[in-house]
Amino acid sequence: MFSEKCEIISNEQLASKVYEMVLRTDNIARESEPGQFIHIRINGGLYPLLRRPISISRAKKEEGTITIVYHVIGQGTEEIAAMVKGEMLDVIGPLGKGFTLFEGKRCAVVGGGIGTAPLLELAHRLKNCDAYLGFKDEVYKLHEFQAVCQKTVVATENGSIGYKGFITELLEQNIKAYDVVYTCGPKPMMRRVADICMASNVECYVSMEERMGCGIGACLVCTCKVKGGDGGVHHTKVCKDGPVFNAKEVLLDA
Ligand SMILES: Cc1cc2nc3c(=O)[nH]c(=O)nc-3n(C[C@H](O)[C@H](O)[C@H](O)COP(=O)(O)OP(=O)(O)OC[C@H]3O[C@@H](n4cnc5c(N)ncnc54)[C@H](O)[C@@H]3O)c2cc1C
Ligand code: FES
Repeated sequence: MFSEKCEIISNEQLASKVYEMVLRTDNIARESEPGQFIHIRINGGLYPLLRRPISISRAKKEEGTITIVYHVIGQGTEEIAAMVKGEMLDVIGPLGKGFTLFEGKRCAVVGGGIGTAPLLELAHRLKNCDAYLGFKDEVYKLHEFQAVCQKTVVATENGSIGYKGFITELLEQNIKAYDVVYTCGPKPMMRRVADICMASNVECYVSMEERMGCGIGACLVCTCKVKGGDGGVHHTKVCKDGPVFNAKEVLLDA
């Protein structure tokens, strides 16, 4: 884990309220695994006090850069969106446990909205997976998935691009083609993906999103519920033990 001030190489708008930022950081680019995140200090002032967690969408070791893709939600992300090339961003990372990679398995990545972003680095590492990408209306980063995935399918809720409806409907039709499915996006979507996988005995990994404080396992702000070996329900830290969990272990109902 590194604590660095990283130079902003670019910060561009991809869709309404969605931005992509490229940061120079040899250390984080070299060490990061798909599914890990960085914790961003917004400015030097007192507010916003807490850092903001954002997943690493791409890590290019040779270039010494990482890319993040983020949705502008509140003050923290608004301030990040206003930053320009040449400014320095204070980050800690790479943090958390990422996706488990398997050799010789048939894999699919299933993303919803901004949750598609962390799956891009995973798709690069898996090399020949299929991508299922769901969006409300505007679609972004599609060509980057198409460049690296064997097959890329898109669904939009309004039918503006690709299949009209939920991406989980397309996954369900093809689930027997896969051994492992990795998913990131809104909780109801991930719950549906997990159910589809469970019904066909397909391994499923989900990337959880909880509010965070420290980001390094010290404050207990980010807990989620997991099933223990004793059959009981326990709390675990999303920042340190996740954000990626096996869908069989984590409770997605809350
Ligand atoms: C492991 C992880 C990875 C993430 N990766 C991405 C990503 O790649 N792209 C992206 O756009 N967003 C991502 N998020 C969500 C992102 O952290 C929040 O949207 C962001 O913190 C909102 O901050 P804000 O100040 O703009 O909003 P505000 O609503 O003003 O934030 C207030 C507080 O709530 C927290 N918060 C608000 N929304 C969320 C949320 N959805 N999840 C967790 N905390 C939240 C903030 O961190 C802050 O502490 C990720 C969250 C986690 C936990
Ligand atoms: S954010 Fe502090 S323990 Fe996870």
